[in-house]
Amino acid sequence: MLLVGLGAVSTTTIAGVMAIRRGLASPIGSLTQMGTIRLGKRTEGRAPKINEFVPLASLNDIVFGGWDIFEEDCYAAARTAGVLEPAQLEQVRAELEAIKPMPAVFDQRYVKRLDGPNVKKGKNKRDLAEQLIADIRAFKAKHGCDRMVMIWCGSTEVYMKETAVHATIDSFEKGLEQSDDAIPSSMVYAYAALREGLPFANAAPNLTADIPAMLQLAAKMKSPIAGNDMKTGQTLIKTIIAPGLKARLLGVKGWYSTNILGNRDGEVLDDPESFKTKEESKKSALDYIFQPHLYPELYGDLTHVVRINYYPPRGDNKEGWDNIDLIGWLGYPMQLKINFLCRDSILAAPIVLDSVMFLDLAKRAGMSGIQEWLSFYYKSPMHAPEVYPEHDLFIQLMKLKNTLRYLQGEDLITHLGREYYD
Ligand SMILES: NC(=O)c1ccc[n+]([C@@H]2O[C@H](COP(=O)([O-])OP(=O)(O)OC[C@H]3O[C@@H](n4cnc5c(N)ncnc54)[C@H](O)[C@@H]3O)[C@@H](O)[C@H]2O)c1
Repeated sequence: MLLVGLGAVSTTTIAGVMAIRRGLASPIGSLTQMGTIRLGKRTEGRAPKINEFVPLASLNDIVFGGWDIFEEDCYAAARTAGVLEPAQLEQVRAELEAIKPMPAVFDQRYVKRLDGPNVKKGKNKRDLAEQLIADIRAFKAKHGCDRMVMIWCGSTEVYMKETAVHATIDSFEKGLEQSDDAIPSSMVYAYAALREGLPFANAAPNLTADIPAMLQLAAKMKSPIAGNDMKTGQTLIKTIIAPGLKARLLGVKGWYSTNILGNRDGEVLDDPESFKTKEESKKSALDYIFQPHLYPELYGDLTHVVRINYYPPRGDNKEGWDNIDLIGWLGYPMQLKINFLCRDSILAAPIVLDSVMFLDLAKRAGMSGIQEWLSFYYKSPMHAPEVYPEHDLFIQLMKLKNTLRYLQGEDLITHLGREYYD
């Protein structure tokens, strides 16, 4: 597993897997490790564990590597992130210390609040991409890896829109030669991964692999891709609650969401340009779930506000507040308040693990390009241009499990269930 950025999310994932495979902790929150899947009719009673149903990699076979702009090893980085208890990190300290970040492709113009010394130099962005490809090959040879997956867990970059340079593989490669400004660091990593035929996931809201050039490259190199922006704290809750309100046709006039968090991610998001990338990603879910064009009376004039406030004393323990102004029968108003005291990286780590496991499976199953069945994990799920993204967590889960059934030649489950009564 190659991780870009060895910050809070990555180190929590890596240390977590190390602790879990030694039997020191439990993989709570991970579908690949704890989930089951119903097969056939309800009367058959078949519900194997997902990792016994599909051929997933074993946790014991995973080796970790990554890039960061800071030189500290993974143990030191995990201590800096401050997510896991020092005593827990001590148990896997030697293994963590052995993971030293490779020098990063980084340009401060895309992440204004960061700067660090462990950065590659190159004559242009093409040269930097080739250096990353050399890193990937060297890592593979050193560790004797059969397969690899890359996931961007780096900081959120400034907001960007698609431009002409993103249109084709050719225009993108010319852009790399010319160090085009429309190619941020994350795209250089995605390009390197896809060129090597690696599956690629984007855990952040950046544009990264969500451009035509990358989709063409993924098709050509048969690489599966997934993203964007992991669905953890507040958006996870939003996509659990909103489908329920919609199912009961309760109207929503306002949804005010605010967060306080104090980790490095929060510091980066304190920059308005990085926040804009996050804001766009966080705001889209409700529009798609509520379908205001179909239900104008219920959701047509929804005011949706999202705020993130950097508040250092909280560290990685984010607090999210949601105030939802509802309307019920005959237009009577009601309110719902949600206060989620969550741990950002504790919610993110199982998503990183599952994404990597499923992308590796997809690659072996010959599935390339956007893996929409992994929307379950993402706030801004990648999707084909002709369809809208599916945000409803329960539809996403059904889609994911049906994909696994399909891969293994099992009947898809429609929940029709007439056969029990006919
Ligand atoms: N619940 C969550 O934690 C969550 C949910 C959704 C998305 N995300 C996103 O995941 C990403 C990682 O979150 P985090 O909490 O680990 O952040 P973090 O700040 O702790 O870690 C990010 C790391 O990336 C490194 N980095 C930045 N640019 C880089 C580059 N070009 N090359 C190599 N390394 C680079 C930084 O030095 C830092 O160590 C962020 O973009 C965040 O928005 C996190």
